[in-house]
Amino acid sequence: MDVPEHKEIRQLARRFLEEAGPALAEYEAREAFPWPLVRRMGELGFLGVFVPEELGGAGLDFWAYIALLEELGGYASLRSILSVQQSLVLTPLLAYGTQDQKERYVPRLARGEVLGAYGLTEPEAGSDAGSLRTRAYRDGDHYVLEGQKTFISHANVAEVFLIFAKTDPEKGNKGITAFLVERKDGVRTTPLKGKLGLKAADTGMVFLEGVRVPQDRVLGKEGEGFKIAMATLDTGRISLAAGAVGLMQRALDLSLGYAKERHQFGRPIASFQLVQAHLAEMKLDLEASRLLTYQAVAKKLRGERYTLEASMAKLFASEAANRVAYRAIQVHGGYGFFEEYEVARLYRDARILTLYEGTSEIQKLVIGAHLTGVRAFGGHGEA
Ligand code: CAA
Repeated sequence: MDVPEHKEIRQLARRFLEEAGPALAEYEAREAFPWPLVRRMGELGFLGVFVPEELGGAGLDFWAYIALLEELGGYASLRSILSVQQSLVLTPLLAYGTQDQKERYVPRLARGEVLGAYGLTEPEAGSDAGSLRTRAYRDGDHYVLEGQKTFISHANVAEVFLIFAKTDPEKGNKGITAFLVERKDGVRTTPLKGKLGLKAADTGMVFLEGVRVPQDRVLGKEGEGFKIAMATLDTGRISLAAGAVGLMQRALDLSLGYAKERHQFGRPIASFQLVQAHLAEMKLDLEASRLLTYQAVAKKLRGERYTLEASMAKLFASEAANRVAYRAIQVHGGYGFFEEYEVARLYRDARILTLYEGTSEIQKLVIGAHLTGVRAFGGHGEA
């Protein structure tokens, strides 16, 4: 990767972060959503990097998106906004949307004029996503949605929601359908505050209480929702892995800088072998994660099923990011324990990576199912 246009997008991201990085810290401290930074990301084309120009995007390729996720990975609240908008909302819209749905939603999302949210998780349906209880009842040429979603990124700031609901409960996960729902249809949301990390990213609950949507808002086919949800998460998991790579790179850069400046026993601590051992392990985790991520992207771009590679990249990179952030604090010593040093935030932000878009445990089940041909919860056949 990294043809000239990828280098350009990396440079653009670095210039953006010169101001956005310090500005983000204030939003993090207040747990406030960084609207001005999001607007700027929209103007720069960051929120629709791989969306074709005729649909309002920057018209670059998927590698450019990966490059951007890496650059913003050290600023996880911002990276998360990129991922949700593009991996979880624009990707399924482009893959399954009708021409009409694409024209209606994609340009405004790609330009960052509106934000989207992905509504799968429910209070009683986390890892077991197929057990969701939100219902969509047919009523003439409309559906009526009833239920609630939780831990939803962008819940309070999105205008467009991709909601997964059961249209046919007796059919299990084959009775799930994906819907494009707008806030103005009557969606109610509440914030969930007090997160350990990602403090400037919005998270909340979504309440669907008799929300009526016309039938042309079904994304894909009725009953196809679970597959859409899972295939979408394949892309989501790659983007989290790329974000984790960016977080590790930032942690390593900061640690290298600090280790060269900080003197103890009359020498820079970078000259001590035990400090070098930390730096070496960090570099190894970083580069191994990068390769697994690029492997998954390459397979996706060959048009092959890449569920296994996406899960491997997500599992390894998210766990590695936690190890790397731990070591970054270790290199910084007592200073790293203070919020004034960025590694403290990296440590907090790394923690979510092993949880959302499928816990590490779920990734192991997905990998195991691929290896054995036996599905995680009983079924046989291709996982
Ligand atoms: N692509 C396409 N189809 C897929 C698929 C994929 N990646 N994964 C599964 N499927 C299909 C299967 O082929 C199967 O179809 P058939 O029956 O026709 O063969 C169907 O879906 C059911 O598959 P499983 O039997 O494997 O399903 P399961 O109920 O046993 O669940 C699971 C498997 C891996 C545990 C899955 O439920 C899962 O990934 N859980 C984790 C959920 C998750 O990641 N949630 C994150 C929420 S989103 C979030 O965090 C976003 C945010 O806001 C940032």
